[in-house]
Amino acid sequence: MNATAVTSAHWALSPVGFWHVAQVWRLERTCFGLEDAYDPFTLLGLLGNGRYVRVQARQSNRMIGFVAGEVETRRDTAWIVTLCVDPQSTRQGIGSGLLAEAEQQLAKRVSRVQLTVRKSNHSAIRLYERNQYKWASTLAKYYRNGEDGLVMEKQL
Ligand SMILES: CC(C)(COP(=O)(O)OP(=O)(O)OC[C@H]1O[C@@H](n2cnc3c(N)ncnc32)[C@H](O)[C@@H]1OP(=O)(O)O)[C@@H](O)C(=O)NCCC(=O)NCCS
Repeated sequence: MNATAVTSAHWALSPVGFWHVAQVWRLERTCFGLEDAYDPFTLLGLLGNGRYVRVQARQSNRMIGFVAGEVETRRDTAWIVTLCVDPQSTRQGIGSGLLAEAEQQLAKRVSRVQLTVRKSNHSAIRLYERNQYKWASTLAKYYRNGEDGLVMEKQL
């Protein structure tokens, strides 16, 4: 990805390496809380593994958004494993921009993308619907606190 491929006056998308692990973890905790955030060891694995595409949004040298998608070649499918935008920077198109860039990279390797979202996460569900994701199935009690997960998918 060209480091300035997608940008606005205030933020820009760029690749992510394992050296960004502390910034990704900070953002994950801010967006999801400790219960749902990936731990640093899982993040390190994700940041150093070629099965994943990873994109960040930066503003004034600070990471304000992150997305990662895992490629499952055998299923011709990718999973968006995390998408998060700093609460102070939401509703500026950053989440949609991150998703679009990840999809563009994933489309070179698979033809479908899926994700799981909490049933109560209306803002994320709205974002995915606006980006042509459709409900595919419901995973009962998928999350640690017993909440159902909605599987949504999109053909690339
Ligand atoms: C969900 C999240 C990624 C959205 O990021 P974002 O940068 O605000 O997304 P966008 O600005 O691209 O929003 C796109 C559309 O999604 C919908 N949307 C986003 N946030 C919303 C909110 N709080 N309430 C209602 N709709 C919302 C809107 O339709 C929005 O378009 P609009 O602003 O033109 O109305 C961000 O709020 C976040 O990180 N939340 C916590 C982590 C999370 O839940 N991640 C998803 C896990 S599956």
